[in-house]
Amino acid sequence: MAATLRALRADITTLSIDAIVNAANSSLLGGGGVDGAIHRAAGPELVAACRLLGGCRTGDAKLTRGFRLPARWVVHTVGPVWRGGREGEPELLASCYRRSLEVAAAAGARSIAFPCISTGIYGYPLEPAARLAIDTVRAALAEPTHADWQDLSFCCFSAGDLAVYESLLRASA
Ligand code: AR6
Repeated sequence: MAATLRALRADITTLSIDAIVNAANSSLLGGGGVDGAIHRAAGPELVAACRLLGGCRTGDAKLTRGFRLPARWVVHTVGPVWRGGREGEPELLASCYRRSLEVAAAAGARSIAFPCISTGIYGYPLEPAARLAIDTVRAALAEPTHADWQDLSFCCFSAGDLAVYESLLRASA
């Protein structure tokens, strides 16, 4: 059965699914934005688990349990800081989506939600980031290693972000 790819508007910490993705920084020790919200909701066990991971490079992803979150796992990925777009930002952002899917699939996840990685504090413009997110996830789903995914969501925090994702998903369906 083909996986469902959709956009929704929610606080990602409330989603009862297999895995949620955190837009972290390379320390993996917490921060603002969605990272702060996930650490607050997961409880102090999360930062303790993250301390054992030894940080994470930009474009890579690492897995922890979800602790007090309804989600079973958290995939911590580190998006690029936007510096104008000519310093490898698109490749690094695409790598975040690919690696997040890989580490979650390796744990057995069938459902996952992504926040709009890099588009908050890290300043990546939303529309190109959303386009790249959709294209990258679609391309990954075509690979046999990603055949077991059932439900993939782009979790938007604002109505404006959701409108952008919905129109891009409609246009590319
Ligand atoms: N649920 C879903 N989306 C959210 C939530 C939430 N609870 N809270 C914020 N967003 P950002 P970045 C959206 O800044 O740009 C941290 O300090 C937000 O509206 O969280 O990758 C890290 O430690 C935006 O659309 O992540 C890093 O230092 C999106 O999440 C740095 O920020 C991403 O915004 C990472 O910056």
